[in-house]
Amino acid sequence: MSSKLSGKEIRQKFLDFFEKKHNHILMKSSSLIPDNPTLLLTSAGMVQFIPMYLGYVEPPNPPRITTVQKCARAGGKDSDIENVGRTPRHHTFFEMLGNFAFGDYFKEEIIPWAWEFVTQDLNLDKSRLWITIYETDDESFEIWNKKVGVPQDRIIRKGKKDNFWGPVGTEGSCGPCTEIHYDLGEEYSCGHPNCGIDTCECDRFVEIWNLVFTELYQDEQGNLSPLEKKNVDTGMGLERITMVCNDKSSTFETDLLLPILNKVCEISGKKYNENEKTNISLRIITDHIRCVSFMIADGLVPSNEGRNYVLRMILRRALRHGRILGINDIFLYKIVDTVVNIYGEIYPELVENKDKIINEITKEEKRFLQTLEKGQNILDELIEKAKQNSSKISGEDAFKLYDTFGFPLELTIEIALENGISVDKEGFETEMKEQKKRAKEARKKINLTDDLVYTNMAKTLGKTDFCGYNLEECECNVLEIIQEDENIEVILDQTPFYAESGGQVADEGILTINNNIVEVFDVQKFDNMFVHKLKTTCPIEKGEKIKAKIDTTRRKKIAAHHSLAHLLQAALIQVLGDEVKQAGSYVDESRMRFDFSYEKAMTPCQIEQVEQIINEWIFQGLDVKTSIMDLEEAQKTGAMALFGEKYEDKVRVVSIGDISKELCGGTHVKNTEQIGIVKILSESAIAAGTRRIEAVSNLSALEYLNKKAQEFDKIANTFKAPTNEVFERFEKTITENKELSKKVKELETKLALLNVEAILDNAKDFEDGKLIITKVENVNAEGLKNIIEKISDKYPSSIIVLAGTVEDKITIMSKISENFVKKGFQAGKIVNEIASKCEGKGGGRPNFAQAGAKNKANLDEALSEFEKTLI
Ligand code: SER
Repeated sequence: MSSKLSGKEIRQKFLDFFEKKHNHILMKSSSLIPDNPTLLLTSAGMVQFIPMYLGYVEPPNPPRITTVQKCARAGGKDSDIENVGRTPRHHTFFEMLGNFAFGDYFKEEIIPWAWEFVTQDLNLDKSRLWITIYETDDESFEIWNKKVGVPQDRIIRKGKKDNFWGPVGTEGSCGPCTEIHYDLGEEYSCGHPNCGIDTCECDRFVEIWNLVFTELYQDEQGNLSPLEKKNVDTGMGLERITMVCNDKSSTFETDLLLPILNKVCEISGKKYNENEKTNISLRIITDHIRCVSFMIADGLVPSNEGRNYVLRMILRRALRHGRILGINDIFLYKIVDTVVNIYGEIYPELVENKDKIINEITKEEKRFLQTLEKGQNILDELIEKAKQNSSKISGEDAFKLYDTFGFPLELTIEIALENGISVDKEGFETEMKEQKKRAKEARKKINLTDDLVYTNMAKTLGKTDFCGYNLEECECNVLEIIQEDENIEVILDQTPFYAESGGQVADEGILTINNNIVEVFDVQKFDNMFVHKLKTTCPIEKGEKIKAKIDTTRRKKIAAHHSLAHLLQAALIQVLGDEVKQAGSYVDESRMRFDFSYEKAMTPCQIEQVEQIINEWIFQGLDVKTSIMDLEEAQKTGAMALFGEKYEDKVRVVSIGDISKELCGGTHVKNTEQIGIVKILSESAIAAGTRRIEAVSNLSALEYLNKKAQEFDKIANTFKAPTNEVFERFEKTITENKELSKKVKELETKLALLNVEAILDNAKDFEDGKLIITKVENVNAEGLKNIIEKISDKYPSSIIVLAGTVEDKITIMSKISENFVKKGFQAGKIVNEIASKCEGKGGGRPNFAQAGAKNKANLDEALSEFEKTLI
């Protein structure tokens, strides 16, 4: 009989089992947003420990940890999202119970522990448990069979697909694994005559615990090599184990999810288990709202990029299933309370961010509703069209739905699938790549509404008159206001503000509205309608007259960097040749970035040359002139245009002296003298055949050079050397340092030998061997291990207990020879006993163990007390 433990109780029992019974360090769950940039989301308990597995970071002492980890498998390689809702136990978010060992215990220990936990602490029926192992892992087989007593025919060997885990992401630690499965019973069988754990993937057998022996490293090409240490990483899904302990067949019926499911039923007026289609939607919403709440609590917000897109996709999928259930208004935000009630105690970030979670969800729900209506109709039409033709929605159409109507691809696929239609995913990806390229230079910062709304608005309001080439301030009329709380966007009839475009950032500045001064922090344009973004609570009325004024100092700095970009292009062509083509640029008040096509890295000499040429042009004081002309005429004059860019019939041409002529709408200096000076900061590759130069001008250049000079002065001061001797001194110091390190090493070895001599002299006779209990100052764990080995070579029959101290850190290490182990002496117990009197703990095997502690004041007494218990 199973034990009917709640999820909360199981979580605690697991952590106690490893922390209290087996000496693990209890650590907190890490965020769903991993530190690891190659990973989309934290998808397993071991993610926060990857650096320890790979040996980049020292594990703690003792090197064994236990956690309950928030995990999300909802995007990228590990995604489970397609299964969620359709099965009774897949989730986008789940909690993983885990224990991790780094070069500490291995198969011999963890396999029996795992068995003990599930059969004793959780009281699961042994006759329902099955084991799988990696096909060649005889060692695990022996342990399961001989040590634990699992009958041979219950241990199934499986291949790489099932019993080899990792790496997460494209490379990293991985290894063979062994899993414990639970048989829910014949009634859950798919009915196939051969249904069984080794032949079938149906719902009858549930994987409850995965024990991974992380001993390998896999590189990006898939090559495997051994890791320095043998490690353990286990993972048990809390939802599934709770389900099994409660004799349920669905995780949605456990205390972890049922209250949420009930709430969804209440809001939708639907009952669970009345019809499978409704069940799917109820489960999807239940699962997704939990995931979304945790994601927002960890700092994600719905948007179109990366992890934030995953969040948006999940949210929108949940919303659509709300519609399927007949909920036409926004509703997800109402479920947040229930999620926080269940999880708030364990994950306080949910409580702290509750308002934010509700707010973000509400905003996204509103946004999606605005666009869903329209998109759904179009999708219906596309499905009809596909039914008659190829049974496939083209990538282009799927992309249009995504781009214009905010329909996540996954959603389109899902709806299409319900109608027996497929979607050209590859075509979609191609469209996406194209669009990314186009959008790169004109990325918007904040968007209250979807682009479509602006584009429509631009149709009625028309172009904004940009007077900013000549004026820094002007009077204007408010034509339209878009408001959401304190986020406000205004559209004016004319404006001196430059809107972000052509790689130049938007102007900042102020609007004076009714004597109130309000800051403009961004300006974007849609079909030449300028949208000014503000944050204010002061009232603004349509039709009101206001004053707009830009930050002129900032504008001047931006202009200097923009003109510099033009000079840079001309200088690059002079030095590298005509094949240099601009691939993109970015200019703001503090720097400029210029991307261009060129096959090789520039040499330092070429970079210096380019810098020199530009500085000369700056010094020559060349006039910068602009003129408006027909596109064709401009092209005839040889003005440079960006490849692939669409220009209007009338274009603006910016020329600098007679060295540069470019089609450009940006703001520029009047004369190159205003650029002051140029300093190139870096030249690097950003893609095959594409290089990037970063440079600064004027005050930014001065600031950069000053900082460098200051750093150098600091070094000179530290060396107390005149500047022309600094380098020599520096080299000398490095050589001396190397020599000193060598000497220190030699002395350390000598000291260790002296320590050994002294310790050997003090060894006491004890039963049929020697007893050595002593403190050694200034020796760390590694030194201690050396000393112990030397002593035990000399006295093969011995009990050795050493306490090494370095500053405030104590390492206690013990080695016990086999004859003493047989008499019942246990190194693990000994080090733990001494450590516990000095504010520490540790453990290990009976013949060798190590502990860490920090209270030096108690150490002598702890050692002598222990000695007294022996003699
Ligand atoms: N990393 C393994 C898993 O996620 C075990 O913790 O299954």
